[in-house]
Amino acid sequence: MDDCQLGDLAYVTPKAYSCLGKASRRVPRLKIIGGSGGQLLATLVAHQLSLKTSRVEIRRFPDGEKYIRIDDDLAGQDVVLVQSIHHEPDNFLFEYLLLCDTVKDLGAKKVVGVFPYFAYARQDSRFNPGEAVSFRTVTKLIEDVGTAELFSIDMHQHRVERAGDLFRIPVHNLTAAPLLAEYVKANVPLQRPTVIGPDEESEQWAQAAAKVIGTDHDVLQKRRLGADKVEIRTRSLDVQGRDVLIMDDIISTGGTIVEASKILKSQGAQRLVVACTHPILAQDALAKIYESGAEIVVGTDTVPSSISYVSVAPLIADAIRKL
Ligand code: R5P
Repeated sequence: MDDCQLGDLAYVTPKAYSCLGKASRRVPRLKIIGGSGGQLLATLVAHQLSLKTSRVEIRRFPDGEKYIRIDDDLAGQDVVLVQSIHHEPDNFLFEYLLLCDTVKDLGAKKVVGVFPYFAYARQDSRFNPGEAVSFRTVTKLIEDVGTAELFSIDMHQHRVERAGDLFRIPVHNLTAAPLLAEYVKANVPLQRPTVIGPDEESEQWAQAAAKVIGTDHDVLQKRRLGADKVEIRTRSLDVQGRDVLIMDDIISTGGTIVEASKILKSQGAQRLVVACTHPILAQDALAKIYESGAEIVVGTDTVPSSISYVSVAPLIADAIRKL
């Protein structure tokens, strides 16, 4: 961490260090910068690429306005800006806009935005009259400020075929599902395992995890009744006497996993292990999930949390190497 200065809102997950591999070949003419929402991840990604992050000073003026200073020569360089938009989405989003504009202004050739967690993606439609289509506004801002290309991980895209359909710039939506499944396979002994997704959209993650574990998968059917209320329809699943890995992209209020756990338990599932890419864990989500019968809950460091056992740094580094 010597080479980057933590901003006023840095979140850290020391656990993420434990699953990182060795640093590899250095990628020339590339600078990596972490915003307050992505500083540790930026450092881990830079380490994977045998680079160091550029020094950034991020603080607030006494009146609350944000101050940013980048202490590096960026002229003619490709710059990777890592900013996860979690917990304080407006703050981290605005900070990304300031960083990106500054990087361009300092002569960078190309800015690649890495958004491990992309907030606002769930509000991609006007569900009720008069609502803001927030995702559209956010993508416009990110593009207009000069982002040339974008990476995200398991970006919420339930109403479109590909995340890229919602942007004008190239978008790469990576998935952490195999990494999560590898972690579970290596650390949690499961008897006659199966993988279940709590809704139709989660089939992609359930399928990817089942492939790693070497078993079958299935999904439940969900209907969202409100921001913190979901209804999951009971379907007969082959879970009797089996250990179940529940896979989803986001745990926010925990409502989805709680309802899924109840149904799986009622159908005779044995151990319940839960894995998600983005452990937002709003309010008492984690407590509710454990109370519902789950034994272990695992997440990645796209959103630093107490369950961020898996780092997505190698995934991001691999993708950057191919740029
Ligand atoms: C929604 O469709 C997502 O895939 C997740 O299932 C959802 O965001 C989880 O939210 P919560 O934890 O609040 O139920």
